[in-house]
Amino acid sequence: MLGVIFTNLIEMMEKEVGLELTERVLDEANTSSNGSYTSVGYYEPAEIVAIVTRLSVHTGVPIPDLVRKFGHYLFKLLAEGHPHAVAGKTSVIQILSTLDSHIHVEVKKLYPEADLPTFETIEETDSYIKLLYTSTNRLEPLAEGLIAGGAEYFGEQVSIHIEPEPGSSSIIEVKKLD
Ligand code: HEM
Repeated sequence: MLGVIFTNLIEMMEKEVGLELTERVLDEANTSSNGSYTSVGYYEPAEIVAIVTRLSVHTGVPIPDLVRKFGHYLFKLLAEGHPHAVAGKTSVIQILSTLDSHIHVEVKKLYPEADLPTFETIEETDSYIKLLYTSTNRLEPLAEGLIAGGAEYFGEQVSIHIEPEPGSSSIIEVKKLD
């Protein structure tokens, strides 16, 4: 998993739970990188699991809720770090329909080691999209948080429905509300 994900998670923890608890969580997670990440480095996804697990123990917040919250926080940072990815877009539905054909393709060019999911569009209108999310990482709560963060970024209200499928996929439906 890319370092940019780790550096943003650490930034969120510092803001939300303070420096002291962040240090403790990183210490207890006992990762090979010892809590020091560079945004262009590449680290084992298990390290993020270890960090979020320790954060959950200390805050009492369930792991999927923490991952969802992180996704929400992350959208704005990814969008600001890659302005071309959101340029000309006015809705999170447009972002979702271009993830596979554009946004994540550019990410892969920038970071060849990135381990990206696929989001195949099954159905789409201006106010609705149905996608098939496939990833060996099964990060549905991260996807949900990113979608919610994207909706907030564009000042939209959306409903998000996620239905796990057999294998390593889920159906994700996003509906824009008036
Ligand atoms: C609503 C919009 C988005 C959704 C739902 C989404 C979804 C995801 C998910 C679920 C992952 C985790 C990997 C996995 O599931 O296997 C991921 C990784 C990533 N995404 Fe997106 N994404 C969105 C927008 C963006 C944008 C705007 C950018 C920036 C250009 C971006 C860049 C990345 C990067 C850098 C990674 C890390 C890859 C790695 O760790 O190796 N994403 N995305």
